[in-house]
Amino acid sequence: MRDDRTFYITTPIYYVNGLPHIGHAYTTIAADVASRYMRLKGHRVRFLTGTDEHGQKVMEKATARGMSPKEHCDDMVVHWKAMWEKLDIRYDHFIRTTDPSHMSAVQSVLTRLWDEGLIYKAEYTGWYSVREEIFVTDKDVESGAWDKADLQQITESNYFFRMGSYQRQLIDAIEARPDFIQPSSRRNEVLGFLRKDLDDLCISRPKARMSWGIELPFDPDFVTYVWFDALLNYLTGVGYPDGDWETWWPASYHLVGKDILTTHSVYWSTMLMALGLPLAGTLYAHGWWKSADGEKMSKSLGNTIDVGLLADEFGVDATRFFFLREIGFGADGTFSYQGFMTRYNADLANDLGNMVHRGLSMTSNWLGGVVPPRTGAGPDEAALDALATQTLQAFDEAMGGLQFHKALEALWELVKAGNKYIDTQAPWALNKAGDTQRLTTVLRAVLEIAYLAATLLQPFMPSKAAELLEKLGRTEDQAVARCCEAVEAGAVTLNALPEGGAITVGEALFPRFREMPERVAALFATEEAVVKAPKVKEPKKKKTPKAPAPPAEISYEDFAKVALKVGEVKAAERHPSADRLLVLQVDIGEEKPRQIVAGIAAKFAPQALIGRRVVVVANLAPAQLRGVESQGMLLAAGGAEVIDLVGVDAPVGEPVR
Ligand code: MSP
Repeated sequence: MRDDRTFYITTPIYYVNGLPHIGHAYTTIAADVASRYMRLKGHRVRFLTGTDEHGQKVMEKATARGMSPKEHCDDMVVHWKAMWEKLDIRYDHFIRTTDPSHMSAVQSVLTRLWDEGLIYKAEYTGWYSVREEIFVTDKDVESGAWDKADLQQITESNYFFRMGSYQRQLIDAIEARPDFIQPSSRRNEVLGFLRKDLDDLCISRPKARMSWGIELPFDPDFVTYVWFDALLNYLTGVGYPDGDWETWWPASYHLVGKDILTTHSVYWSTMLMALGLPLAGTLYAHGWWKSADGEKMSKSLGNTIDVGLLADEFGVDATRFFFLREIGFGADGTFSYQGFMTRYNADLANDLGNMVHRGLSMTSNWLGGVVPPRTGAGPDEAALDALATQTLQAFDEAMGGLQFHKALEALWELVKAGNKYIDTQAPWALNKAGDTQRLTTVLRAVLEIAYLAATLLQPFMPSKAAELLEKLGRTEDQAVARCCEAVEAGAVTLNALPEGGAITVGEALFPRFREMPERVAALFATEEAVVKAPKVKEPKKKKTPKAPAPPAEISYEDFAKVALKVGEVKAAERHPSADRLLVLQVDIGEEKPRQIVAGIAAKFAPQALIGRRVVVVANLAPAQLRGVESQGMLLAAGGAEVIDLVGVDAPVGEPVR
C-alpha cells in the first residue's frame, strides 16, 4: 500500500512525431533527479515516462515516411530510449500508448464511463480543412497558422465526456489544496480559466477520418482521441485497473510544461473524479527554454538545441547540472552556448573542481595520500560544521519542493566556503611551518566537504559523483547510507571519512573550457550573430508623455475618426519583459487576430480573458510596447489602475458607435 515514503513521479508522455529536444530533456532530467534523490533517502520510488503515439500528427508523419503508424512509432521509440540512456535517465517504466495493456485499460475506462452515462454522443462543430482533410483547432486558427479562407466549419458526430459537470468540484478541490498546482501563480491561472463555463470534452474521432487511436468499445466506428488516451497513462503505467496500481496512486508529482497544464489540471482531474479516484499530489508546471533571441524552442521553429551534442562535448553530468542550476523550476529560461560554458567554467571547473583538486593534491603531496585525522578542530572547523548542517537542511527542503536550483545554490555556498577556507588557512604555509596538526585538520575538512558534495550531487551528476567518491576512497553505497543518515538526523558533522583511507588525485573532474568545443563552435557563431544583430532601434527612452486632459468639447467629426469594433480575446499571455503588460490576440473579424498589448496584467490573469468580448480601437497607429508590437487598444474603465474592460454582447467585428 501507498504510504508517506512512497514517491511516484511522471513526465508527460512525448509525441513521437519528432525526436527528443531540450524541452523534453529538461522535464525528464528533472524527474530523474527528483526520483534519484528520493531513492537516496530510502523512499519507494516509481518514475514513469513514455511516448504518446496515437493521433493525427503521428499518423501524418508515418504516412510521410511511407510507414505504417506502428512501424513509425517502433522506430521513433528507439531514439527516445537512446536519448534517455545517454542522459543517464533511470526510469522504472517506459509506457507506450500502443502497449496492449494500456489500450485495453483505456477501453475498460471507456466502458465504465459509458455505462455510467458519463460519456454521450453528440454533434461537434469545428474548423475543417478540406484540402488537408483535417480538423484545425481554434488555437491554430488564432495563432494565424491557418487562413480562415481555407477552412470551413463542419459538423460531425462524436463522443463527449461530461467534463463540465465537474466544474464546481474541481474548483473546490483546487481551492482546498494550495499545493495541488505549483508554482502558485499557475494555480491562479487555472482558477481564472475555470471562471468561464467548462465545456464537455470531445474524446473521439470517426475512424473514417482518423483511425490511429484506440477503438471505442461501444462504437467500432470511432477511436478515442489524444488526451483521453494519453492522460490515462499515469494510471495504466502503474498497472491500472488489474495490477498493483494502488501501491502508487495518487502520483506524488506530475511534471508538465506550462503549455499543458490545463489539460492536466482540468481534463485529467475531472477524469479522475469520474473514476472516483483521488487527484494527483502536485501538478508542477515548469517554464520554457527559449533560444538566445527569445523565441520558444520547438521542433516547428527549428531552433532547438541538440542536447546530445551538449552531452558529448561538455559531458552528460554537466548538461544535467546546467539545466537545473540555471533557472528556477517554474520560470522560463534563455539557453545560450555562451551561458552554458560560463556556468560550466565557474561552477564546475572553478568552484567544485578546484576545491576538490586542491584538497586531493595537497593530501597526496604532503600527507601520503591518506585521509588525515581531525584532531585539532577549532572554531573555524566548527563554523564549517554548522554551515554543512545548514546546507544539508536547505538542500533537503529545496529538493522536497523541486527547487533544484536552490538546492544547488545551497550546496555551492558550502563549496565556495571550502575554497575560501583553503585560502585563509593557507595549508602550504602550515606545511612549510611544519604545523602538522593544523595541516591535517584543514585538509581533512576540505576532503569532508568534497565528500558531502559528492553525496548530495549523486542525483544530479551520477557519474561525476561516483568518480569523486572513488577519488575519496568511498563507494556509492557508503555515500547513500551516509546521506540517508544525515537527512534523517537533519544534521551533519564533517568527520564521515574513515581515517587512513586512501585517496587518489587522478584527472581533473571538470576540465576547464578555454574556448567552445569545435562541434559547438558553429552553432555558437550563429547564436552570437543573433544576439549581436543590430536590434531594431527603439526610440530613446523618454518619459511617456501624459495624455492631455480631454477638451471640454469635441466635434462629431473628431469623434468619428475613431474606429471602434467588437472583438473577442482568443489568446493571452504575459509580456516577456514587462510585468504590467499582457499580450493579447483579439479577433475583430479581420483575416487574422490583432495583437494588442494592454497594461492590465495587475487586474487580469491571461487565461481569464480568453473568450471575453471587448471593444477595440481599431485604427490606432501600431506601436512597439517594450519590444512587442501593439496593433490597437482595448477600452477599459479606470485611471492608472484598470477597474474593468468595456465589454459588449455583440458579434465580433461589429462597429461600435
Ligand atoms: N503528448 C503530449 C503530452 C501528453 S501527457 C499525458 C505532449 N507532448 S510533447 O512532446 O509535445 O511535449 C511534451 C513536453 O515538452 C511539454 O511538457 C512541453 O511543455 C515540453 N516542452 C516542449 N518544448 C519546450 C521548451 N522549449 N522548453 C521547455 N519545455 C517545453 O505535449
